[in-house]
Amino acid sequence: MAKRIMSSRLLSLRPISSSSSTLNNNPTRLLLLPSTTVSPNLLTFKTSTTAAAAATDDPTETKPKKKKKSSKKKAREAEAIKQQQVKEKRRTRSDKEYDDSHFPRLLEDNEDHVPVMLPEVLDVFASMSLRSFVDCTLGAAGHSSAVIKAHPELQCYVGMDVDPVAHAKAGPRLDDAISCANNPNLRAHLVLKNFRHLSSSIHDLHPGLSHSGVDAILMDLGMSSMQVNNPERGFSVIANGPLDMRMDPQASLTAQEILNSWPDSEVGRILRDYGEESNWYLLQNKIVQARLRGGLNSTSELRDLIENLTRRTRGGRQGWIKTATRVFQALRIAVNDELGTLEKSIHSCFTCLAPGGRLAIISFHSLEDRIVKQAFLNIIGRGDGDGEESSGYMEGSSKIRGDNGPKDAWIRQIVQGRNGTILTKRPVTPSEEEERLNRRSRSAKLRVIEKLR
Ligand SMILES: C[S@@+](CC[C@H](N)C(=O)[O-])C[C@H]1O[C@@H](n2cnc3c(N)ncnc32)[C@H](O)[C@@H]1O
Repeated sequence: MAKRIMSSRLLSLRPISSSSSTLNNNPTRLLLLPSTTVSPNLLTFKTSTTAAAAATDDPTETKPKKKKKSSKKKAREAEAIKQQQVKEKRRTRSDKEYDDSHFPRLLEDNEDHVPVMLPEVLDVFASMSLRSFVDCTLGAAGHSSAVIKAHPELQCYVGMDVDPVAHAKAGPRLDDAISCANNPNLRAHLVLKNFRHLSSSIHDLHPGLSHSGVDAILMDLGMSSMQVNNPERGFSVIANGPLDMRMDPQASLTAQEILNSWPDSEVGRILRDYGEESNWYLLQNKIVQARLRGGLNSTSELRDLIENLTRRTRGGRQGWIKTATRVFQALRIAVNDELGTLEKSIHSCFTCLAPGGRLAIISFHSLEDRIVKQAFLNIIGRGDGDGEESSGYMEGSSKIRGDNGPKDAWIRQIVQGRNGTILTKRPVTPSEEEERLNRRSRSAKLRVIEKLR
């Protein structure tokens, strides 16, 4: 019998340390509302060419100068094409058809979250008979619901998230998925904890599972649309709100504390290392100077500081928005210790896998993707190679390609190692159609590792 659901509301009130619950088959139906995932942090703008246009309109400009400018432009264009080609080479674009029956009705309810690369995630687990599945980043349960529906053989499901808002959203949706799957043997649990506690959580919930291992684990990193689109959470570059940025509302560190009381050099380090912001030193100084005037107390104060500084140094809206996006990203990563947590958790997720089990991770920026790629290589004992160019890896790829059934046709090139196999030598990226319809997906990269059978 499927277990009875626990109110997600109740769940959100539970203390973090003991917050797990068991889902049931509550007949309450979920109405899938129109949804959106426009993330202000990922806004892109048309390239401004005003300065160049003004220069060519100058009647005093001589011909040779013009020639020089156009050859510079050509060189820039050639460089951009070259970089694009390198990018393409280093990834495998999904050729899956965009199947919007997997998606909630698109782009109207900005309270909702559209799962990224859903058909590709379903593909990762399609060839497996799943007894157990752990979603480390429950969010609105878009991925979880689809996996539950696609695997009626599932016996144990665990959904983890640090954010009670995610649990409230996911609860009814999971109920609905469990009813649809008509799977009376499924035991489903929600855990309001950081995924770095995955191993102990599984052990507490299901000692048997901790022993046999989990068949499938998913991490879909970053923020949900429910988080970004609520100004009160402080993630939005555009809407004003408190400088919070905590995914776990019980955590003590906020962005405001970092900006107003951390040592100058630490503020600078965060901007440089987590935001990859070239203007980090100037920004660090402005942030520290703002402390003399009472500090920064809202996202719009931070945004104004960035806008004032960047308009002067780089010019234009595009410049300051991009800088603001990098600064907000840096603060969010620091507040939630995202990179440290990810690095440690990948290893513990792999340890929790059953033989032949798969761990799939979707990342959204290069810092995360680098960690995933390197951790996978380290796990299989190939950490010293670059993992992408060695010809040795190609032998493995042809071998597994021959063995693949149609359900594993998505696997292209692999990296084989001692303890397992990386099934995505190059990360899979969203289809063009998905990128067009869901801007948030544009930076997504999916990597998958399989434990030795
Ligand atoms: C991109 S959303 C996941 C969306 C989900 N896959 C879906 O289909 O609706 C990421 C979620 O992971 C959660 N999260 C991020 N880091 C976490 C961590 N270290 N532990 C637990 N949850 C985390 C966030 O609170 C957020 O709800």
